[in-house]
Amino acid sequence: MPRRYTVETPVDVSILGESLTFPTSKRVTRNRLMKAALSEYLAPWTPNDLAKTGTPNSRHVNMYEKWSAGGYGVVLTGGILVDKDHLEAPGNTIISADVDSPEKRAVWAEVATKSKAHGGLIVAQIMHAGRQTQAAVNPHPFAVSTKALGKTEVGRAFGTPVEMTTEQVKTEVVDKFIYTAKYLYDAGFDGIQLHCAHGYLLAQFLSRTTNKRTDQYGGSEINRARVIIEIYEGIRKLIPAKTGFIIGVKLNSVEFQNEGLQTNEAVIIAQELDKAGFDFIELSGGTYEKFAFETRESTKNREAFFFEFAKEIVPSIKNAVVYLTGGFRTAPAMVSAIKDGVTQGIGIGRPATQEFDFVNKLLAGKVQSTVAWSDLLPPSDFTTAVLACSVQTAQAGQKALSECADINEGISDLTDDTVAAEYLEAQKKYIERATAEGKQGRIVYGIVPFRNNYKQG
Ligand SMILES: Cc1cc2nc3c(=O)[nH]c(=O)nc-3n(C[C@H](O)[C@H](O)[C@H](O)COP(=O)(O)O)c2cc1C
Repeated sequence: MPRRYTVETPVDVSILGESLTFPTSKRVTRNRLMKAALSEYLAPWTPNDLAKTGTPNSRHVNMYEKWSAGGYGVVLTGGILVDKDHLEAPGNTIISADVDSPEKRAVWAEVATKSKAHGGLIVAQIMHAGRQTQAAVNPHPFAVSTKALGKTEVGRAFGTPVEMTTEQVKTEVVDKFIYTAKYLYDAGFDGIQLHCAHGYLLAQFLSRTTNKRTDQYGGSEINRARVIIEIYEGIRKLIPAKTGFIIGVKLNSVEFQNEGLQTNEAVIIAQELDKAGFDFIELSGGTYEKFAFETRESTKNREAFFFEFAKEIVPSIKNAVVYLTGGFRTAPAMVSAIKDGVTQGIGIGRPATQEFDFVNKLLAGKVQSTVAWSDLLPPSDFTTAVLACSVQTAQAGQKALSECADINEGISDLTDDTVAAEYLEAQKKYIERATAEGKQGRIVYGIVPFRNNYKQG
């Protein structure tokens, strides 16, 4: 039995099983739970073989089928990059005209078909890293301004960005997001989510830390959100609401930096996106310069990291469904966030990789909380969490659901201290190797080699 977060007083979870209706596409979710976007890092990165680079594989098919079979109302994919030269990291999947291939189209279509067969809505998150592109991928990435990243909380090097011209905002950003969205629609996805949080390119437009522009994309909150509205309208022109295609957005509620997005600015931006017709707005927070995935004193009892910020933003959202992601671990916290009107939906990130059927168990009354990893992997260590979650998704992807006796077969139990200690040893070696290779100018990417047979990068 995996270790779980303790719940002193169990609650009635029926509210979590209620459906939600997206206002524009009119699609209906089977419950209020959403599996948050988690990058998989399982695609090949082959800059010299464009047909191959960023191609998903059977592991993607298997893991997304399992999350859908595990009960989530909405399953978000990990961020899919709209541009091969602006990756969040090597290993990302990529969809753009210059890296297309029949194989890529076939695998994405299979991800959609297999996921939908279990009743969950499969929604692809799409993104562009902008100045948060690693230097090894591109030392001079396109960004909103020339403002480079300062000291970051991720162990990666970043280059000096190039400020896009007004024309390039259309050709390098708007057109590319529209292309990727249409591709995913053609592949059979239920919708897409624009990643406008965590300091990536679309968040760079929204934040005064990075947006120093004097054209129509800079200045007021409305100007800074303009690029997102243009992408939305461009997608809707090709894929109208009557198709039932869902368009959502992930937005920071706060950035905890001097010039970073403040909650009163997020209120205006959320209002603008709501008016445009977005089906859902998922609230999050933080950037590479200031991670925010930690419990603060003010939100300790609420679990949700961005509770107090969401509370300020939500009243201004009249139509879109609101999801809140970050920190939710127990049914009482999820239920009270909904009853308090702070959110309508609950996003689950890290715990989703240990237990793919958390939602089925929760709604069937079998559990009241997510698993709790060993204390050797503390929630405050986000870098370890990213590496460990990726190992678990790679393990889950190894076998198809139909071949498994249990949906979580093959996933290492990181709630167990002995397994966690062994994992940390493997992670330490991986980081040492990556650092040594990095000094020689070579990149190590992908998955920590630990109880999975995935070799790459
Ligand atoms: C392995 C890993 C990969 C992630 N990749 C993405 C991503 O591609 N896009 C995104 O919006 N957030 C990403 N996140 C952030 C999560 O979606 C989520 O916002 C965060 O983990 C907080 O939720 P949690 O406390 O439930 O884990 C990632 C997090 C982890 C651990």
